Amino acid sequence: MMRVLFVCLGNICRSPTAEGVLRARLADAGLDAQVEVDSCGIGHWHVGKGPDRRALEAAGQRGIDIGALRARVLDAADFRRFDYILAMDHDNLEAIEAQRPVDCPAHVGLFLAFAGRPDEAVPDPYFGGGEGFARVFELIEAASEGLVAELQEKLRDEPAVR
Ligand code: 4NP
Repeated sequence: MMRVLFVCLGNICRSPTAEGVLRARLADAGLDAQVEVDSCGIGHWHVGKGPDRRALEAAGQRGIDIGALRARVLDAADFRRFDYILAMDHDNLEAIEAQRPVDCPAHVGLFLAFAGRPDEAVPDPYFGGGEGFARVFELIEAASEGLVAELQEKLRDEPAVR
C-alpha cells in the first residue's frame, strides 16, 4: 500500500484536480486498491467547500468528476500517514517543510518533478481565466503519468493485500 497527498494553497483548484486525475490513472493501471490518494490546502479560507466551479468544469470536460471532494488543511497526522507529500508550487513546498517533523520519512517535493520538470510549479489559476485551468489540467496529467510509473515500480514486489 502506498499513500499520496497533494497540497496546494486553497485545496479547491489544483490539488483536488490532481487527486481526481491520479485516481483515474491508477484505476486505468489497476492500482487503485493499492494506492490511497488525498489532497489538502495550506490556507483555511475554503475548508469544507467543494472544488472551484472552473476546476470542476475543466476536469468534467475530460471525464473526471471531482464534485464530491471537500477542502481541508494539511495537519500533523498527514506527515505520519503519507508516503508522498507533493506540492503544486514553491510556496506550498515551503509551508509543508515548515510543518514537517524532522523524523518524517515521506518524500516531500514538487509534483511536476514527476513530469520531468524538477523545479517547475503548477501555476495558481485562482485569479485568472479558464485557460489557466486547462493548463493546470495538462501539467497534472503529465506528472500523474510519471507518478503512476513510479508507484507501479514500487508496488511491483508488494502483495496486493497485506
Ligand atoms: P488552489 O487555488 O490553491 O489551486 O486551490 C487557490 C484557491 C483559492 C485561493 C488561492 C488559490 N484563495 O486565495 O482563496
